[in-house]
Amino acid sequence: MKKINRNILLGIAAVSMVFTSCFKDKNSPGFEYMPDMYYSPAYKPGEKNPNFADGKTNQDPVPGTIAHSFDRSKMINFIPYPYSNAPSGRDSAIVFLKNPLEPTEYNLSEGKRLYEVYCIACHGKEGQGDGSVVKVLLAKENYGLQPPAYNSDQLKNITEGQIFHAMQYGKGNMGPYASQLSAYERWQIVFYVQELQKK
Ligand code: HEC
Repeated sequence: MKKINRNILLGIAAVSMVFTSCFKDKNSPGFEYMPDMYYSPAYKPGEKNPNFADGKTNQDPVPGTIAHSFDRSKMINFIPYPYSNAPSGRDSAIVFLKNPLEPTEYNLSEGKRLYEVYCIACHGKEGQGDGSVVKVLLAKENYGLQPPAYNSDQLKNITEGQIFHAMQYGKGNMGPYASQLSAYERWQIVFYVQELQKK
């Protein structure tokens, strides 16, 4: 009985020595099993990196990179406007600029709502170019402010790109709307102007 007790005690002492010896140095991680898992070979984002000429791990985005968002409205607003205000820019927008939105019920009703806030004063409820501002000015003196009707020969066939371009830079007596309306909102309005073209 005594012998067994002693053996057990010796055993416990040996095991505890093995364990406590690991913790002699508090900063030492002790025995490292598979050190690859402790010291990843990958560089951390802020770390210096000899593999790149500029020595950075986190590389700068290439020039012309467009910020990406999973929010579709933001994505559309981030896209830079590639057409200039010169006649050549306008000609390109007329042909190549397309509405990135779907004509959903929401986009159509938002287009109408925004049109009635921003455009109706000159273009009128039905897009006949007879808004309240125009009426007042015409009654006083013709400032040449009257816009043509959207369903007139001049405007009934203009493309979605041309409609957007008019809001981007303005035209003649019409000011630009790029700072008041986001690109997303302007595309919603385009749908409504197209409805008025068909009237
Ligand atoms: C201050 C009055 C005024 C307001 C407000 C106004 N417009 Fe105009 N708009 C005009 C006039 C004037 C023209 C004619 C410009 C010209 O051809 O010289 C015009 C022309 C246009 C054209 C034809 C462009 C072309 O290429 O011939 C479109 C499309 C248009 N406007 C859309 C809009 C939309 C959409 C809004 C609202 C976001 C708006 N306008 C707000 C006065 C206005």
